Amino acid sequence: MKNVAKLGNGKMFIIVSFILIGLLITLAYINEIRFDHFSNIRKCAISSPFSNISSLPIKSSENDIRILLGILTLPDNYNRRHFLRLIYGTQSVAGAKIDLKFVFCNLTKEDQKLIIALEILRYDDIIIMNCKENMDKGKTYTYFSSLPDMLKDDTHYPPYHYVIKGDDDTYFRLPKLVETLMPLSRQDLYYGYVVPCPSMDPFVHYMSGMGYLVSWDIVEWIRDSDIPKSHLEGPEDKNFGAWLREGRKAKNRYNAKWYMYDYPEPHTRCTHELWPDTVAVHRLKTQEKWVTTLEYFNVTQNLKPSKLYHIP
Ligand SMILES: *[C@@H]1O[C@H](CO)[C@@H](O)[C@H](O)[C@H]1NC(C)=O
Ligand SMILES: *[C@@H]1O[C@H](CO)[C@@H](O)[C@H](O)[C@H]1NC(C)=O
Ligand SMILES: *[C@@H]1O[C@H](CO)[C@@H](O)[C@H](O)[C@H]1NC(C)=O
Repeated sequence: MKNVAKLGNGKMFIIVSFILIGLLITLAYINEIRFDHFSNIRKCAISSPFSNISSLPIKSSENDIRILLGILTLPDNYNRRHFLRLIYGTQSVAGAKIDLKFVFCNLTKEDQKLIIALEILRYDDIIIMNCKENMDKGKTYTYFSSLPDMLKDDTHYPPYHYVIKGDDDTYFRLPKLVETLMPLSRQDLYYGYVVPCPSMDPFVHYMSGMGYLVSWDIVEWIRDSDIPKSHLEGPEDKNFGAWLREGRKAKNRYNAKWYMYDYPEPHTRCTHELWPDTVAVHRLKTQEKWVTTLEYFNVTQNLKPSKLYHIP
């Protein structure tokens, strides 16, 4: 009797042990799933705010129009860069892949080396060219002529159909930009707000520095031709127009006036009221002007209600 009872207890013990082991394995498994799930959420949270722009992996189809939005700025303009990342990171355009890059010359200060390296780790949206910061000594030339080598890649040719040189006080509305570009040529194109302000003829004379766009073949021409090299000093955007005229380039031109304009105040011949058909607003020199503009275009209308915040 004693022996049988012992054996019974032993069996029970083995069965209970198996059940316990089974439970432990199940628990471990569930935890692993939870952990994976959690780390996925974390990954999304880290990459989502700007994932529609910059170089984070974006699903883009071969047919997408590819645009480089290069904003020429200065290394020390940290706040402006963060602000523009917000502005462009919350816009998305179906059928287009638009990469935002901030462009400047060699760093000159110790703190820049650290902070800008961190920005690159986080956003990967910075281009540092081999030059010394300058206003009228060829930064624009360096920008366009550096791109073909910098962006050479074997998967896509051209790396971008269009390249923009943009100003850091210009607000581009990317969906509208793409809408206006779709019917235009991808070759030999020069697109922008023609200067002087009253001119409506894209051949008279050149596109304003608020932001202009050229097709990739023109970018390569700028690198290869002797014409730009021989005419670097002076007002850069005016020079740009002169190169194209001298080289008989940009047979396709598009005057985006009044899709593009200067902010209404102070009134000049280059200003226009804010209106729905806007590709770009320029001279956003103050926070107040930015806010008025962004409010006008309802940029926060898709904000989802949440228990986590309340914005009146
Ligand atoms: C990114 O783009 C997708 C689809 O194109 C859109 O659903 C999503 O809201 C966009 N995210 C942001 C932060 O703009
Ligand atoms: C810019 O920096 C690079 C690397 O530090 C250096 O080789 C180059 O000479 C610099 N260029 C100018 C124009 O200062
Ligand atoms: C912004 O939203 C308001 C209210 O819905 C609407 O009347 C207005 O047309 C919108 N503005 C633009 C530029 O879409």
